[in-house]
Amino acid sequence: MATEPMNASELRGRLQALRGEATARLADAGDEAAVEALRTALLGRSGSLTALLRALGRIDPADRPAIGALANEVRTALDGAIAARLESLRATDRSARLETERLDMTAPGRPRRVGHLHPLMTVERDLREIFHAFGFEVFEGPEIEDDWWNFEALNIPPDHPSRDLWDTLYVAEPGSREAGALRPADDGTILRTHTSPVQIRAMKALSPPIRAIMPGRCFRYEAVDASHNFEFFQVEGLVVDHDTSLADLKGMLTEYARAIYGPETPTRFRPGYYPFTEPSVAFDVACLVCGGPGCPACGRTGWITILGAGMVHPVVLRSGGLDPDEYQGYAFGMGLDRMTLLRYGIPDLRLLMGADLRFLEQFPEGR
Ligand code: DAH
Repeated sequence: MATEPMNASELRGRLQALRGEATARLADAGDEAAVEALRTALLGRSGSLTALLRALGRIDPADRPAIGALANEVRTALDGAIAARLESLRATDRSARLETERLDMTAPGRPRRVGHLHPLMTVERDLREIFHAFGFEVFEGPEIEDDWWNFEALNIPPDHPSRDLWDTLYVAEPGSREAGALRPADDGTILRTHTSPVQIRAMKALSPPIRAIMPGRCFRYEAVDASHNFEFFQVEGLVVDHDTSLADLKGMLTEYARAIYGPETPTRFRPGYYPFTEPSVAFDVACLVCGGPGCPACGRTGWITILGAGMVHPVVLRSGGLDPDEYQGYAFGMGLDRMTLLRYGIPDLRLLMGADLRFLEQFPEGR
């Protein structure tokens, strides 16, 4: 910094030189930090302009007004130049950001992944719709039942051989595993082996005339393979009224088969056996794969059994709190899983209960 003494003309020269030099250095400052450093070097407590302002006190008092005015002018000019440089740096910065962060408002949106119904539920909904048109309501029951609801109420007494038709999953008696002798719970708690117990619940909850379908999940103690699973879905049907006959059953189920498989699909009834119906029938449609001549899908018979049905047994009506001398009814039950396999040509039942999206996403129709 300048050494003393300093006269007026020397100070004027230094002020003007500083202005020129500062303006040039400001133009070179490439970012805000460089500008701030320059501000300190010029205007800070030990900055070069500050030093010159201090020197003002030491020149001839007669020269002070003129030189003082010049010093102020230089200071204002530097303040203005600093502000202008900062602004221009910021503006460049903004346009650079605008360039990199540009939003193309006309670009197409990113597609959102939307889920859809499981194929089993698509088929179930179709059934709900068809039966809705026939005047059926939907009635649901619990997946955990006990021996009475699942068997006894349906005319399947303890130790009766017909129980062998349902391989049941029992709930273990608490403590029996630890005792080393696993045995079924005393209270008879089981996972329902079919939706038929919901018939009893529907009879108790609704009053005749009853027309209801009862969809739901069921469980059986099964060796799992391509056509058996321990967990599967059924749709049960129940109609109870005065003077209901086997002719009503045949008429309704024939119309149902037409609605779901097309009006031309041949159907047939065969005698069947279920403890909860008397008489009982099996209902077949012409094979959906070969249409009649016989193929592996229909066991070379040309027919596929789509449901079991029959006239509700008097014991079952009584379990539901109804008088068999006053009311008659028919019932039917079908497996949703096999219907789904047939409809989509799926070769293995296990695929339905696996959570593999590569499989499930092939059936997007159920929205
Ligand atoms: N509950 C039977 C089963 O799981 C299916 C069934 C057959 C239901 C005949 C019915 C019926 O209501 O009438 O195999």
